[in-house]
Amino acid sequence: MDIQPAGTYIDATYGRGGHTRALLDSLDDAGRVVGMDRDPEAVRDAEKLHEQDARFRIVKSPFSRIAAVADDFKGSVDGILFDLGISSPQVDDPRRGFSFRADGPLDMRMDPDSRISAADWLATASEAEISDVLWELGDERRSRQIARKIVETRKASPLTTTFELASLVRSCVFQRGSKIDPATRTFQAVRLRVNDELGELEAALDAALGLIAVGGRVLVIAFHSLEDRIVKRRFRDLDRVRRENERTGNSSSPEFTLLTRKPVVATRDQQRLNPRSRSARLRGVERTA
Ligand SMILES: C[S@@+](CC[C@H](N)C(=O)[O-])C[C@H]1O[C@@H](n2cnc3c(N)ncnc32)[C@H](O)[C@@H]1O
Repeated sequence: MDIQPAGTYIDATYGRGGHTRALLDSLDDAGRVVGMDRDPEAVRDAEKLHEQDARFRIVKSPFSRIAAVADDFKGSVDGILFDLGISSPQVDDPRRGFSFRADGPLDMRMDPDSRISAADWLATASEAEISDVLWELGDERRSRQIARKIVETRKASPLTTTFELASLVRSCVFQRGSKIDPATRTFQAVRLRVNDELGELEAALDAALGLIAVGGRVLVIAFHSLEDRIVKRRFRDLDRVRRENERTGNSSSPEFTLLTRKPVVATRDQQRLNPRSRSARLRGVERTA
């Protein structure tokens, strides 16, 4: 992040503030961090940090609205960080419905005030829509069979718990010798859909780039190949425009330079300490003009 001690930073995915605290530790009294999260539990945690550290404030908002949240700092933000997906406290709390390993309500909303839970979506989406989502967002080869079974089952009674969905999926997918639970792909796809995670990312990336000061950076950690692909393409396109400008002698502003030809991944030791970092891919750009 190349942190400037008096800089302004946005942690667009506060979670439990691990990154925010690391940023604050590197800032002096003039520096500041704005945190964002759409999860009220994350926001409650952040409010406690705000009470202890006036350089930090939190905004409860989906990060697609980052431009409105940080309108005052347009063109003057020194760094924005996105650490995508769900946090450990979200996965580990059965009441949030993200995990097929514990029984709980089929919810999966990062923001429980938003309208559609996983149960609502599975109760109302068409068979074709469910099948497409499982195929596109979950890479689930048995998407059609699972979608058909969901629609058959809900005629008798709606799916309301994580265990009901997980056992329905397991009954459709025979997987010999794999360590991965067959429900993994379906849960991932439904979660991405319910929270519109790819749409959020697409909207937020462009908005974030518009806030950055010259010399500032946008960094994204993705855990899912579809998210990583969106980031990779966007950042490469920006770098291509800059190189094209260099070649033709044109100049344009803003201009961005790719910091990561290959994504930064966790080292073996880091993965041992934190197994959830195994699929993390960090990419970044710096505004150079
Ligand atoms: C992987 S966790 C971040 C963990 C954090 N870096 C930390 O150190 O604790 C992702 C967080 O981002 C939030 N989040 C994910 N997508 C979001 C979105 N589109 N808008 C706002 N918050 C989002 C989630 O609610 C979750 O708390």
